[in-house]
Amino acid sequence: MDKQQERRKAIAAAVADIREIADDGDITPDILARVRTRLLSLAAKHDLFTLEDFPPPEANNKRRSCLYRLSEDDDHRFALYANSADGNVNAPPHDHTTWAVIVGVRGQEENRFYDKAANGVEQTASHMVEDGAGVALMPDDIHSIHIKEGAPVLNFHMYGLGLEQLDRRNFWNERKEIWEVFPAHTDIREARH
Ligand SMILES: [Fe+2]
Repeated sequence: MDKQQERRKAIAAAVADIREIADDGDITPDILARVRTRLLSLAAKHDLFTLEDFPPPEANNKRRSCLYRLSEDDDHRFALYANSADGNVNAPPHDHTTWAVIVGVRGQEENRFYDKAANGVEQTASHMVEDGAGVALMPDDIHSIHIKEGAPVLNFHMYGLGLEQLDRRNFWNERKEIWEVFPAHTDIREARH
């Protein structure tokens, strides 16, 4: 089996397990913790998920991160992406309107968590997503993500529904001091082959 076949097989096995864990009834933090554990064991297969396989945006690209779609069901559920970044990335506080689990493969992505406050958001926690560590968010949970210049980052982002379907996500616009609808990510690359 070549590397690509091995990767396809490992992804399919992880998603099948996650479907089983999360498909049955309501999503709870406990269920998401089990999803995170399963995704971490996929992320531990370092040689199947390298920056050469999933390169960050080209140097002349204004965006410093891009997403590779690794898996998504026909009804767009259980959407799994590899997020590849190199350079400064700062996503504002936002929700997802579905569950989300993020686990690290290499490099560091800081996730800050927030509560809604009278005027915007109030930070409640910060977790580093890196090799062996991940975070999980319920549909209404709010986080922001931060990647520093200097070391490329590769991690998995998994959502209850594909990002193209998530057109009602909210983000806190610090400058305008209002909640706005989060525009869809503009650099999603097909990688389900
Ligand atoms: Fe997010």
